[in-house]
Amino acid sequence: MTAQTTSSNDRVIIFDTTLRDGEQCPGATMTFEEKMEVANLLDTMGVDVIEAGFPIASDGDFEAVYEIAKRTKNAVVCGLSRAGAKDIDRCAEAIKPAKQGRIHTFLSTSPLHMKYKLQMEAAQVYELVISSVTRARNHTDNVEWSSEDGTRTEFDFLCKCVEAAIKAGATTINIPDTVGYAVPEEYYNLIKSVRERVPNSDKAVFSVHCHNDLGLAVANSLAGINAGARQIECTINGIGERAGNAALEEVVMAINVRNDKLKYFTQIDTTMLTRASKVISAATSFPVQYNKAIVGRNAFAHESGIHQDGMLKNAQTYEIMRPETVGVKQTSLVMGKHSGRHAFIHKLEELGYKLAQNQLEDAFVRFKALADRKKDIYDEDIEALVDQEIAQSHDRIRLQSLTVIAGTHGPQRATMKLNVEGQVKIEEAEGNGPVDAVFNCIKALVPHQAKLELYQVHAVTQGTDAQAEVSVRLSDDGRSVTARGSDPDTLVASAKAYLGALNKIVRKRQRDLAAPAAAAS
Ligand code: KIV
Ligand code: ZN
Repeated sequence: MTAQTTSSNDRVIIFDTTLRDGEQCPGATMTFEEKMEVANLLDTMGVDVIEAGFPIASDGDFEAVYEIAKRTKNAVVCGLSRAGAKDIDRCAEAIKPAKQGRIHTFLSTSPLHMKYKLQMEAAQVYELVISSVTRARNHTDNVEWSSEDGTRTEFDFLCKCVEAAIKAGATTINIPDTVGYAVPEEYYNLIKSVRERVPNSDKAVFSVHCHNDLGLAVANSLAGINAGARQIECTINGIGERAGNAALEEVVMAINVRNDKLKYFTQIDTTMLTRASKVISAATSFPVQYNKAIVGRNAFAHESGIHQDGMLKNAQTYEIMRPETVGVKQTSLVMGKHSGRHAFIHKLEELGYKLAQNQLEDAFVRFKALADRKKDIYDEDIEALVDQEIAQSHDRIRLQSLTVIAGTHGPQRATMKLNVEGQVKIEEAEGNGPVDAVFNCIKALVPHQAKLELYQVHAVTQGTDAQAEVSVRLSDDGRSVTARGSDPDTLVASAKAYLGALNKIVRKRQRDLAAPAAAAS
């Protein structure tokens, strides 16, 4: 609500790590296509640096970073790398096509990590800091160095490593709170003291990277900025390892709304925050907590009579920012079965979707089918439908039909028809309950080893005719994938969600197999 400051010294660089720290957390695996969509959105909304992945981790990761580097128009595209020569060289190769590329190399510096994780002496770690940054700097002049577990690192050693990294050519220095242990005052003092102590600290931008194990990631990040850091590493919806990272939407809006106290600015288009949250939630199938700051479903809802009365008299009584500022539109009763193609396209534009012609046609057919079954269709229904359309557009296994016999006299039985890579297959299976019968059908039609880790049902809107939204998480070969399916019939939604996760696994395997050839081209 206050005017933004404009001195370049007050500009905070937004470094988004949704596709790296976010994607590496259990269940958040995204497909190649989803990563492209997310990167494009981040670039459009004004993110300064996109950490696109960890190229050495797999051929699929490499290929995603390479392609994002090729496609990104404005942002710096960054790849993560450990300190080894092979890691750094692979990372350099992945970011090569970028207009502006960055190598982000990291090494643990805390006594605990050096002893147990690295099994190295401090002197060896120090030498490796120098050799890794030097190697990265031979590939590009945009190099970030991170002292992993920085907040639990012995202060003198931290300063010594930071000084050496800058001397070796690092242009950004990140001091992460890797385990989310710091409190704001402590983190402020750490960043300030390192900047004061290290003689060449003025030659690098300092960065903050805070995990949320104590729920302090955003507070710590802002404290770091107050101490002179000028880059915040964050993720959409705060997804990330364990309790996650600092949420991008929260740091950006804190700076925006409390500009009287936090006299900085970012170049994020805040009206895209809600859309970004939804895209990430759809891609990862991680639901957004209802009361999540800025982007939660209830963030701008006023339930109590006293609050509603105040809001009607003057919105500022209970609102510190206007919902439009973050891209929230009033939930509206949108359409019904008489709505035509034009109205549907208009609504999609309003919700921020840009679909290819064939996706649009398919989505419209689905919308009509939904409208035949459900009287009132809300924005959320359209979003669930289109997110599913986008997610399924590359699917190799598709649901054609499902019939389930359920009730008090078991066993429950399901009959399912699937289109598997163009071939129609049909199977019948029994189960301990209708959902079990549905999943047994899928296992019979597409034999696989993946294990079901999570099964969750939500209602998209209210009422008994609301669409069910089912989340399914499968784990395969040490990695988990999550997918969602929606339908007015909970069992159909369950089948779609399970098949969505299976499709992600199939695509990931095929990408990993195909990647070396693609990357070389
Ligand atoms: O949390 C952390 O320390 C990291 C580093 C790789 C920057 O993610
Ligand atoms: Zn991290």
